[in-house]
Amino acid sequence: MAKSEGERRKFRAIKGTRDILPPDSALWNWFEKTARGVMESYNFGEIRTPIFEETELFARSIGVETDVVSKEMYTFEDRENIRVGYPQTWEELIKTNAAVMEAWKSGKIPRTPYNEIAIEQLQSAFQDIENVGTPGILRFLFELHNLDLGEKITLRPEATASVVRAYIEHGMHTRAGDQKLYYIGPMFRRERPQKGRYRQFYQIGAEVLGTSDAPAIDAELIQMLTDLLERCQIEKYTLLINSIGCAECRPKYVELLRAKLREPEIFSKLGADSQRRVETNPLRVMDSKLPEEQEIIEKLPKISEHLCAECKAHYEKLKRELALREVPFTESPRLVRGLDYYMRTTFEITSPILGAQNALCGGGRYDGLVEMLGGPKGIKGIGFALGEDRFIDAIVEAEKINATRTVDAFIAWMGERAYPMAVRLARVLRGEKHTVELPPEETKFRKALERADKMGARYVLIIGEDEIASDMLTIKRLADGKQEKISEEALVDYLRGAR
Ligand code: HAM
Repeated sequence: MAKSEGERRKFRAIKGTRDILPPDSALWNWFEKTARGVMESYNFGEIRTPIFEETELFARSIGVETDVVSKEMYTFEDRENIRVGYPQTWEELIKTNAAVMEAWKSGKIPRTPYNEIAIEQLQSAFQDIENVGTPGILRFLFELHNLDLGEKITLRPEATASVVRAYIEHGMHTRAGDQKLYYIGPMFRRERPQKGRYRQFYQIGAEVLGTSDAPAIDAELIQMLTDLLERCQIEKYTLLINSIGCAECRPKYVELLRAKLREPEIFSKLGADSQRRVETNPLRVMDSKLPEEQEIIEKLPKISEHLCAECKAHYEKLKRELALREVPFTESPRLVRGLDYYMRTTFEITSPILGAQNALCGGGRYDGLVEMLGGPKGIKGIGFALGEDRFIDAIVEAEKINATRTVDAFIAWMGERAYPMAVRLARVLRGEKHTVELPPEETKFRKALERADKMGARYVLIIGEDEIASDMLTIKRLADGKQEKISEEALVDYLRGAR
């Protein structure tokens, strides 16, 4: 590419990411404010966690077999400034080897079991060079680039793992009562982009961590979601619930399911993905979307019929708790969810107006996760996350919420002498929480009116020669064109009354 062409190159947002611009961002702000309001009314407090974490945290919590961990994570090495490059001469090679060994000894290269082996291999290759020549150099280079020079870090694909990590790190179990936490922010998954599915998307989520697993907690969390749907006036949705059992009953069910799926007349009708999952994770077959598999899946044994007595009682109580709160639900034996940490309660809210990506939100219980991540024993957890991008689509589709921002006053000033008054007025009115547009340069009256009109301003404040002479200003209401003269002092009260 010629240099000048390179300089003029236009940049675009990365595939699967997007910009949210005004006026659309007003609805996002309205929604976040509304969600905060609902969650705070249930006494949830906000937690903010970092956007990246150690890769291992997500791998262990979400499960290495899941799509999220195995295919979709944005992972990179967070390395100190150790450049290995490709040494060209014998001297460079010796220098590189010395630098690597120095970094290894000082701990700059992470001392992982993997690197222990890689360093050993590198040294054996280095010693071999003199004996074997070029193949030895090639092996040395290969081993050099095999080293993990930094810690593996991942952009968070979800936030439950981070919240649990923070809960443990800050000993939050010693705080009084259940910890009820919520978060708002971007998540990252390298999925195939399509409508409602992005590589950077936004979630609003909530988690309850504590010693109790009372089904009332599950029901209240779900009710919080249905409250939010109501505030957004989204009426077309379905709440799906299920129980996927515990460490006691699920393994037995999974074996039963696997045996059933292995039966030749069933196995042969499954697609390649499901056939593989029969061995790796048969539960995943249950949420397959392949049309030709639907009939088979309908006839598979249902986990709800194989729950242990305790899980069954928990599930029954959950249903009574939901009924008590008048939250309508549909039982869905196929709702197994795509992340490994779940047990017992799982739920999802879907909306028919969203098309293929119809899950507005999903969640469930994860009672063993705190302990699995090195936290105290006996801490239970449940939570959900909603897809903000999809909620926004559903709000737009429902056409009930109008969140556009309005300009209250457009100050049309004309002449040098009018300008100080215009600046003063803008300051006073902004102090009164009005949205004010103050043109930075003098604008002809007609042009100013046109711009105010385009912006949808409610009032135009006119300050020209006449107004300065009479120490008054003119206020014009754009809705009906009504216009009157008013003193600067009276203006504040006038606009207060016009809110
Ligand atoms: P999840 O089902 O993976 O659960 O995601 C929750 C919601 O995030 C989905 O229902 C969907 O609305 C939205 N979402 C997921 N991926 C995308 C994407 N690529 N583009 C747009 N929206 C997306 C979780 O993340 C769990 N951490 C929920 C949870 C919290 N469970 C317990 N606590």
